[in-house]
Amino acid sequence: VLSDLGPVQDAYYWRLPYACIIADYVWPGIVMSPKRINDIKDMQFDERDVVIVSYPKSGTTWMAELVSALNYSGDTDKLTKLRQDERVPWLELDNSYWWIKAFFRFSWLFGESKKDEAPKDNRCHDIGTKHRLCFTHLPLELLPKSILEGKCKVIYVARNPKDNAVSFFHFHRMARFLGLQKIDWNDFFALYYTGSVYCGSWFEHVLGYWNLAKKYPESVKFVKYEDMKDDFPGIVTEIADFLKIDLTPAQTNKVLTHCHFDSMKNNKMANRDTVWLFNQKISKFMRKGAVGDWKNYFTFVQSELFDELYKEKMAGSGLDFKFE
Ligand code: A3P
Repeated sequence: VLSDLGPVQDAYYWRLPYACIIADYVWPGIVMSPKRINDIKDMQFDERDVVIVSYPKSGTTWMAELVSALNYSGDTDKLTKLRQDERVPWLELDNSYWWIKAFFRFSWLFGESKKDEAPKDNRCHDIGTKHRLCFTHLPLELLPKSILEGKCKVIYVARNPKDNAVSFFHFHRMARFLGLQKIDWNDFFALYYTGSVYCGSWFEHVLGYWNLAKKYPESVKFVKYEDMKDDFPGIVTEIADFLKIDLTPAQTNKVLTHCHFDSMKNNKMANRDTVWLFNQKISKFMRKGAVGDWKNYFTFVQSELFDELYKEKMAGSGLDFKFE
C-alpha cells in the first residue's frame, strides 16, 4: 500500500497515530477522515464565503483573526468573547467523530463558547456579519470545484519555508493529533525536505495557490507572512478592500491592536488555549511570531541543501520570500 510514497513518507505514516492516506497525502486520522475530505469536494461555495487557506504554520490564525475582526466591523470586544475555532472553523475537521462532538458539547469546560455543538458543515456565518468564514490547509486538488472556479473569496497566506519548517516542527511536538512529541529537528528536517509531512510539499502547496491567484486575481488574494510582519496596517487595508468592508480609522486601530502578536498571545479566544488538540505545555501555539527563527535550527548543510531545493522549485514562478 505504501510503496508508492517513498521511505521517508512511509516512516511518517507509521509514526502518526491513526494515519490515513488520501490522494497520496498522509493525514492525521484522529481529526479528519477520507469521508470528510470527500464530502468537502461536493460542497457549494458562493459569494458569501471567505476561505482562508494556507500550508500549516504560515500565519493562518493571524489572518483568520484579522478577517474575523473585519467581518465584525472592528467590534473586537465581541471577538474577545467568542472562540476563534467557532468563528472561523476548520473545514476538514470531521465533526462526526464522537470525541469532536463531545468537545463542542462540553466546550464550556475549555473556555467561553457561544454554541454547544460544532458548526454543521464547518463554516460559520455569524448574525450581523457579511461573510461566512472557514479555514483549510487542503492542497488545491482536494478543494471543491466552486472554490477552484473562483466562486468565493480565497485568502491564501504563505510563509518562507525555512521559518515555516521550524514552526511546523514545534507544532508536530505539541499537536496531540500528530503525536510526535519526541521528534527531533534533524528527523523533522528530512520529512519536511522530502515533502513527506501532513499536507505534503510546501512548494507544491504554495505554487498551486500562487497560480490560482494569478488566474483569479479578483477572488483569490495571495498574502505573505513576512509582508504582514513588515506592514500590517497596509495588509489590513488590502484585505478590507478585497472583502469590500469599510472601516473608520478608529475601527481600523482597534483591529490593529487586537491582531498584534502580544494581544493574540494573551487572548484565550485566539491563542488556542481552549483547544484540547494542543499540548501547549510542550510548545505555545503563539510561539515566537518572528521572521528568521530558522537560523536557530538549520545547520549550515541543511540551509545550503534547502536553498538549492528552493532555487530549483521556485525557478520561473515569479514568487520569492524574505528569509530575514
Ligand atoms: P511561530 O511558531 O513561528 O511562532 P498558523 O496559524 O498557520 O498555525 O501559524 C502559526 C504561526 O503564526 C506561529 O509561528 C505563530 O506564532 C504565528 N502567529 C500567530 N499570530 C501571529 C501574530 N499576530 N503575529 C505574528 N505571528 C503570529
